[in-house]
Amino acid sequence: MFPRIPFRLKTVDDLLAEAARIGAVLPFSDDFSVFREPQTIGRVTLDNRFAVNPMEGFDADENGTPTERSTRRYDRFAGGGASLIWFEATAVVPEGRSNAHQFWLHEKNVSQYAEILARSRRIAKEQHGHDILAIIQLTHSGRYSKPDGRAAPIIAQYSGVLDPVTGVTPATPLITDDALDYLQDDYLRAAELAAKAGFDGVDIKSCHGYLLNELLGSHTRSGKYGGSFENRTRFLRTTIARVREEIPQLIVTSRLNVYDAVKYPWGFCSTPEDYRRWDLTEAKQLVAEIIKLGAALLNVTIGNPYFNPHYNRPYELAIRGATAYNEHPLIGVSRFCEIASEIQQAFPALPMITGGCAWLRHLVPYVAAGLIKNCKLAFFGQGRGAFAYPDSVRDILARGEMSPKKVCTTCSGCTDLMRRHQPTGCVIRDRER
Ligand SMILES: Cc1cc2nc3c(=O)[nH]c(=O)nc-3n(C[C@H](O)[C@H](O)[C@H](O)COP(=O)(O)O)c2cc1C
Repeated sequence: MFPRIPFRLKTVDDLLAEAARIGAVLPFSDDFSVFREPQTIGRVTLDNRFAVNPMEGFDADENGTPTERSTRRYDRFAGGGASLIWFEATAVVPEGRSNAHQFWLHEKNVSQYAEILARSRRIAKEQHGHDILAIIQLTHSGRYSKPDGRAAPIIAQYSGVLDPVTGVTPATPLITDDALDYLQDDYLRAAELAAKAGFDGVDIKSCHGYLLNELLGSHTRSGKYGGSFENRTRFLRTTIARVREEIPQLIVTSRLNVYDAVKYPWGFCSTPEDYRRWDLTEAKQLVAEIIKLGAALLNVTIGNPYFNPHYNRPYELAIRGATAYNEHPLIGVSRFCEIASEIQQAFPALPMITGGCAWLRHLVPYVAAGLIKNCKLAFFGQGRGAFAYPDSVRDILARGEMSPKKVCTTCSGCTDLMRRHQPTGCVIRDRER
């Protein structure tokens, strides 16, 4: 095991000194007034720049319907004060669930999704006097599908690095082009249901190693969904175009992996010479295309939480039994910020959101303000922090600070629960979960 790097930073000066010591470049600002600058997306004007990033609870019932436990999570998110709530990964087909208790939206439970969303809107209005923007993340778990708790991978291509750790063998079939064509209809149907439930928008999720993300890096696949840039991005582009055309009232967005950090030819935007370096050329080409197709927002992310979690969610403690990487978490935070900034700066007119900063604990607001003020990101999103300390937004806006006693400690306890197929939540700060 590599040594743990404990969080010892107390002040902003400590943070800046530590960043300088290890050569990490961080966006930084102490001008918190930027958090209150309004931002318009579609028809909604939001009164602050905070978002809850999608965080799976694995607490739906076996039919994918939100339960009381799910309702409590969203009540806490809405009560926290973020103006943008990105509802978690929600399967579009049962075989694409990563867990028997993942959200799954279908005709028979749309009213329960409408209910949980209506509560969030009501709570946000009552407690903060604002309207929220609600996006729902539509997903197919692809290689990580486990609809009844056992691995049942559905893959876009074989991978020299991911197959050995995901139970994929040469006998595992590739998803066919026909099945991918039909799957777009499932996304469309789920998007229609999302509109019916009252969501403002849908995220055609293309990140974190799941099916649509795997397609983006499917250099070795043949046929119309693999090989060339045009083919690898076809599914996402076509689905976005179809949602825009068939359900024009919905905002369409994607949580997009702009860099997988997976060795070429099995990943998206990793340089062929060294997967630890990124080349965002194709990511930018794709963003340009989806803007043309009508995407109104982009959620920028990187990495694969199963394979290289230090890219996707820099942490102090690795999950139990997992390899701990020999990298200072601040390097991970700085990489996330640098990449998100590069994408935002290439497309200044498209509002973007990013995150990945929980390791910073109570110093999060300084980097969040830096991302917004200096790098022009539209929103700052919290993931693990929203489980641990949903009221942090309220505290930052009201008092200009987060309580060090309430922050996420990046102990990986929530990810560990996920891996053990248990309902997630913060194991340290939320004992009632
Ligand atoms: C328990 C858990 C559940 C998550 N669920 C989702 C999800 O449903 N969809 C998604 O895109 N990312 C998901 N993520 C990733 C987070 O949204 C976020 O990108 C990550 O935790 C890094 O940001 P942070 O430092 O603010 O936590 C999840 C992460 C964790 C730890």
